[in-house]
Amino acid sequence: MGLRFILSAILVYCATMWSPASTEPVDDKRALLDFLDSVNHSRKLNWDNTTSACSSWTGITCSRDSSSVIAVRLPGVGLKGVIPSNTLSRLSHLQILSLRSNGLTGSFPADLLQLPDLIGLHLQSNGFEGPLPSDLSLWKNLTVLNLSENDFNGSIPSSFVNLTHLTLLNLANNSLSGDVPDINLPSLQFLDLSNNNLTGVLPRSLSRFPSSSFSGNNLSTPVQTPSPFPSPLPLPPMRHSSKFSETAVLGIIIGSCVLAFVSIALLLIVTNRKGDEDGEILTTVKKEKPVKKMTPDGNSKLVFFEGSNLAFDLEDLLRASAEVLGKGTFGTTYKAALEDATIIAVKRLKEVVVGRKEFEQQMEIAGSIKHENVATLRAYYYSKDEKLMVYDYYNQGSASSLLHARRGGNRVPLDWETRLRIATGAARGIACIHTQNSGKLVHGNVKASNIFLNPKHFGSVSDLGLATVMSPVAAPATRSAGYRAPEVTDTRKASQASDVYSFGVVLLELLTGKSPVAGEEAVHLVRWVHSVVREEWTGEVFDVELLRYPNIEEEMVAMLQIGMACVARVAAQRPKIEDVVRLLEDIRGRSSTQSAGTRSPASTPAPTPPLTQIGSPSNRD
Ligand SMILES: *[C@@H]1O[C@H](CO)[C@@H](O)[C@H](O)[C@H]1NC(C)=O
Ligand SMILES: *[C@@H]1O[C@H](CO)[C@@H](O)[C@H](O)[C@H]1NC(C)=O
Ligand SMILES: *[C@@H]1O[C@H](CO)[C@@H](O)[C@H](O)[C@H]1NC(C)=O
Ligand SMILES: *[C@@H]1O[C@H](CO)[C@@H](O)[C@H](O)[C@H]1NC(C)=O
Ligand SMILES: *[C@@H]1O[C@H](CO)[C@@H](O)[C@H](O)[C@H]1NC(C)=O
Ligand SMILES: *[C@@H]1O[C@H](CO)[C@@H](O)[C@H](O)[C@H]1NC(C)=O
Ligand SMILES: *[C@@H]1O[C@H](CO)[C@@H](O)[C@H](O)[C@H]1NC(C)=O
Ligand SMILES: *[C@@H]1O[C@H](CO)[C@@H](O)[C@H](O)[C@H]1NC(C)=O
Ligand SMILES: *[C@@H]1O[C@H](CO)[C@@H](O)[C@H](O)[C@H]1NC(C)=O
Repeated sequence: MGLRFILSAILVYCATMWSPASTEPVDDKRALLDFLDSVNHSRKLNWDNTTSACSSWTGITCSRDSSSVIAVRLPGVGLKGVIPSNTLSRLSHLQILSLRSNGLTGSFPADLLQLPDLIGLHLQSNGFEGPLPSDLSLWKNLTVLNLSENDFNGSIPSSFVNLTHLTLLNLANNSLSGDVPDINLPSLQFLDLSNNNLTGVLPRSLSRFPSSSFSGNNLSTPVQTPSPFPSPLPLPPMRHSSKFSETAVLGIIIGSCVLAFVSIALLLIVTNRKGDEDGEILTTVKKEKPVKKMTPDGNSKLVFFEGSNLAFDLEDLLRASAEVLGKGTFGTTYKAALEDATIIAVKRLKEVVVGRKEFEQQMEIAGSIKHENVATLRAYYYSKDEKLMVYDYYNQGSASSLLHARRGGNRVPLDWETRLRIATGAARGIACIHTQNSGKLVHGNVKASNIFLNPKHFGSVSDLGLATVMSPVAAPATRSAGYRAPEVTDTRKASQASDVYSFGVVLLELLTGKSPVAGEEAVHLVRWVHSVVREEWTGEVFDVELLRYPNIEEEMVAMLQIGMACVARVAAQRPKIEDVVRLLEDIRGRSSTQSAGTRSPASTPAPTPPLTQIGSPSNRD
């Protein structure tokens, strides 16, 4: 009965977390419709004043509380003619405007200069003409300005020096003339003024940019000075040797490395050349000005989930500097910093075997889960050759790296309190997952490197549901083998009971500090724990790092019992995950009533309960 209560409580909780915010930015909606009404567009957009702009309109992103539109991305939708004035400029909190690769004409849309929150403006590959605006004083936060491939003429206004947050300025392929002003902004990381009609001497301060930034002009360069910027470091190869565990790899953070993302960009270019059935994102690599095949409603696009407050498009993503966070069973995860300082984790999947429809269904299920113990899937991308998933980034790393990184070195020990929270949080997350899809959803790849610390320092599980869309991996072949239940012969056969088994291995990992995937010492964690416990050396099981914390032995033993119940050889004998949640929550409940919440070193440790009842020999591994 208590169980049913917990289960329904989880359900209700999940359900309330799902329900979309009911508010709508009414004025912003009106402004958008006014815009669409008075601009010619060859593609029909699903902007309908009876539907929610925040959750269903193509190209629209709202603020977290749905009170305003913060991003409008309409690349390559065939917009033609002049941007009607007093429409987009009414989106008073707009941060990102991307109208690239359309057929927009006329002079620079001056009323956009009234948008004080604008961070990114992407108007490249249109037919705008005339001078650039000179009063940019309201654009205090502008970070990215891409006006390339238009017909702007006149000179580059010196007022650009007032854009103190500008990191990227691309004015290439216009008809700008005159001198280059000294726009040596400290924040500026990327500058492209190539293929204009600029003359005079290049300001010395700008010689830190490569000469390609200025090619195709008639500029004389000042006396050569060596570039202060070192050439980019090659991406260190991921170690495949068995010496190197996945967890150790995860612990390594490779210094800022753009190469990884450049390679994705290259891949997309290749994709473009090959397939060309794909839509919007190809605008980033299309060379010709008139945009032909753009289908924002169609094939390939970055799909955002409801309530996502991330303001970026794939172009931002590709431009973002990225570090490899880890290589997992199903692909490589990168940490990417967007230009508005948002940090996200991007997982690049390999070997997706299902078609678009099935993939999208799986993503929709994963993306619909809003639970503090399930890593939020923000967006995904599917094209023939590239599948990406965008997650929130957890800055404390995975449970695996927290447990195993720099063992023997100068590591920060992982305290018992945190381990208990990792376990409890992850169990709650898996319990929520198991209630989804009419109670049939399976995580399929529970392991310490897929569990992260949420802002409250509880475990949060990531990567759910991937096992069913990826090509099956034979059991012994992967690094996850140590987590796999004995009945699971390939990754697609995972079940809720096998999730419980894998979670049991995570519990044993948290207790022992030993990794079930560590290459060299290749412990079969379950077998090892069984052998130690059988010999009644229970004390030997626990991680030496935990010995420094007083009065936790009883709690550790309780967790050990739960872990061993989870790794029962026979699937039917394993507890359900919601029982596991309750048992884990009881650990602290029980001991805090006994010790009245205080853990004074003076109190005598509770006697170790016998472990003999944990499992009959038949369900030992
Ligand atoms: C939608 O727009 C049409 C035309 O602009 C208008 O007549 C109608 O009242 C609007 N409906 C809602 C629900 O706002
Ligand atoms: C929109 O397209 C129609 C037909 O092509 C044309 O007559 C009209 O002038 C265009 N309007 C604008 C604002 O470009
Ligand atoms: C600019 O960014 C800051 C910090 O992100 C924010 O507080 C502010 O509202 C933004 N807008 C303006 C006009 O400064
Ligand atoms: C800006 O626009 C040009 C032209 O479409 C494109 O090549 C470039 O990648 C865009 N982004 C940046 C960061 O310059
Ligand atoms: C810019 O181009 C317009 C026509 O598009 C022309 O009338 C104007 O004189 C040009 N200005 C400069 C400075 O070349
Ligand atoms: C920069 O801004 C200040 C004040 O906002 C203004 O006085 C100054 O003229 C601007 N500089 C340029 C080059 O436009
Ligand atoms: C400018 O045009 C040239 C030649 O068409 C092209 O190679 C280059 O990529 C373009 N640059 C940008 C930033 O659009
Ligand atoms: C570049 O400038 C020169 C002299 O000002 C002018 O004759 C020429 O037409 C310009 N070229 C372009 C492409 O604007
Ligand atoms: C480049 O500029 C120099 C003087 O600054 C001028 O003599 C020369 O004719 C220009 N070349 C072209 C191709 O415009």
